Amino acid sequence: MRFNVIVVGSTGLVGQRLVYMLSKHPWFNLIGITASRDKANKKYKDVVKWSLDSKMPESIMEMEVYDTNLDIIDSLKPDIVFTALPTEVSKEFDIQLVKKGYIVVSHASNNRMDKEVPLLNPEVNADHINISKLQGNKWKGKLFKVPNCATSILTLVLKPIYDNFGLRHVFVSTMQALSGAGINGVSSMAILDNIIPFIEHEEEKIENESLKILGEVTSEGIKLNESFYVSASVHRVNVLEGHLESVYLKTNKDVDVEDIKKSLIEFKENKIKNLSLPTKPLQPIIVRNEKDRPQPRFDRNEGNGMSVVVGRVRKDSRNWIKFNVLGHNTIRGAAGNGILIGELIAKNYNDIIQ
Ligand SMILES: NC(=O)c1ccc[n+]([C@@H]2O[C@H](COP(=O)([O-])OP(=O)(O)OC[C@H]3O[C@@H](n4cnc5c(N)ncnc54)[C@H](OP(=O)(O)O)[C@@H]3O)[C@@H](O)[C@H]2O)c1
Repeated sequence: MRFNVIVVGSTGLVGQRLVYMLSKHPWFNLIGITASRDKANKKYKDVVKWSLDSKMPESIMEMEVYDTNLDIIDSLKPDIVFTALPTEVSKEFDIQLVKKGYIVVSHASNNRMDKEVPLLNPEVNADHINISKLQGNKWKGKLFKVPNCATSILTLVLKPIYDNFGLRHVFVSTMQALSGAGINGVSSMAILDNIIPFIEHEEEKIENESLKILGEVTSEGIKLNESFYVSASVHRVNVLEGHLESVYLKTNKDVDVEDIKKSLIEFKENKIKNLSLPTKPLQPIIVRNEKDRPQPRFDRNEGNGMSVVVGRVRKDSRNWIKFNVLGHNTIRGAAGNGILIGELIAKNYNDIIQ
């Protein structure tokens, strides 16, 4: 079975990644793309500021860009809508869509912490998908959220460590790429020869969303995992793609560096068996042993941008484990994860629409 899908906000950095990945997807037909009114009724190639290394797919170049409104969506009748809008716009449009009965995979930060809204990082918490049933009281459709980019990368490595050794404290200091700020992101005058030690609301997102992603399914929705806490400090750096995160953590059990590495390498996926989805990387976590890796320029495209790369795993004199983790923010941290969630929905489609 193939599914008809739409990308809302197709001209932005996440939207472009979605469009690119969906243009050659084995399960999804991209039947519509939208942007703001200024760009509507024009060809995609004439209005998009194409920012990917790869060439724009020919099948997309001539597509008409639609205005972002419900009438357009109704006329196209998609099975799944991917939204990649600024939060202020998304918080209204996502809800209009789910009220109307659509299945929505949304990248913006609105509603991420709602108990009955799955916040998915599929290899970590695919089983959270079932709580979408609880939305039946509010909406005809279903809302699924893609986590914050730095959080998707972090929780992928926290999961096997939590499962094997327990967690008490996690401190993370991020070095986040410019593309994380969107297409009009940060001006060159602000970032050249510079590092900016602030990204609005980012620390709270990492701290809170991690506890939801590693949380527990209950009859009332997701219960946050309160057995550990996360404290984050974020920085915008002069790198195009790839967030590097410096992680310090304390486990419940005393553990050796080699045990940590083994648990990361062996990690495949969570409880849902046969999570065979086309966008899922063969090896979600890659561990490198060189003293100076991972690095954004060299490591961000591992697993087609869907794997995260861990390096410099070490232990200090007080038994704190330290390492660096790198992930492609617009793929693993955004569009790639969004499509993986779309695939998980497609696999469970009949259950979800009931
Ligand atoms: N970049 C990342 O790494 C990343 C990671 C995770 C999550 N996110 C989240 O994903 C969302 C999209 O991020 P992005 O980086 O792709 O942003 P972006 O580059 O700024 O793109 C925003 C998109 O939304 C459209 N848009 C803006 N205002 C609109 C309006 N009033 N009506 C209809 N369309 C409108 C834009 O269309 P026009 O071109 O016509 O203006 C564009 O297509 C954001 O909520 C962001 O926080 C981003």
